[in-house]
Amino acid sequence: MNNRAALDIDKIKEGPIPRHIAVIMDGNGRWAKTRGLPRTAGHQKGVARLKEFIRVATQLGVEYITTYAFSTENWKRPEKEVDFLMDLFEKVFLEEVEHFNREGVKVNIIGNKNRLPSAVKKRVEEVMDVTKGNSRIVVNVALDYGGRFELVNVVKEIAQKLLDGELDLTDVDEDLIGGSLYTKDQPDPDLLIRPGGEKRISNFLLWQLAYSEVYFSDVYWPNFKKNELLSAVYEFQQRERRFGGLKGSGGE
Ligand code: FPP
Repeated sequence: MNNRAALDIDKIKEGPIPRHIAVIMDGNGRWAKTRGLPRTAGHQKGVARLKEFIRVATQLGVEYITTYAFSTENWKRPEKEVDFLMDLFEKVFLEEVEHFNREGVKVNIIGNKNRLPSAVKKRVEEVMDVTKGNSRIVVNVALDYGGRFELVNVVKEIAQKLLDGELDLTDVDEDLIGGSLYTKDQPDPDLLIRPGGEKRISNFLLWQLAYSEVYFSDVYWPNFKKNELLSAVYEFQQRERRFGGLKGSGGE
């Protein structure tokens, strides 16, 4: 997208802004490799990029971000990389709390918290507690998150209620399932952004992404700067969302 005028933040704000953006921060390792650096340097740089992404999204008026920081499959990575990432999460949630408070960011960690190292779990609880009163933007950080894992847990929870007689089969509908997810009380993502060149969903927000617009970019996450996000939102604004309805029917 080369239209520089369209990349002006104020111009973009005149159009529809996605309330909720989901982002898969991919390409950290490859970014580092092209610079002859260890993969971990890419993750480190990725944190700075995430802070910028949150700042620009807030300026645009985005209300929710869900960012994929560590998947249920990422445990299969070399131990050294997993340890580095866990240390990084611990450090960021400790050192950036004041930054999040200044920027009005409410941090919400989603995923299987039980498998995280206890030091990370502690920081996760703290950052959620300390930022819970912030209201400019909600940032869901998906940590040890998998869309299938999330849905399995919802099925178990509902099945238990059916067995206990707390629910009837006729109570099971989309609202009940949507209201049992980590993202309950939040709108589904309007836009999913995946930098890094891959064109996959990778077990991210499988239920919530049903009608999201998807924006793929070849740019590696550590290079996904302000203008990349503005381009993604600009492209979102050019699309007609129909939610399964007919063209021109105003789907929504
Ligand atoms: C995927 O790139 C990235 C990750 C698995 C980690 C993302 C984490 C961060 C950017 C840190 C964010 C920090 C907080 C506190 C939320 P990759 O390693 O798969 O890259 P590659 O495909 O090029 O190998």
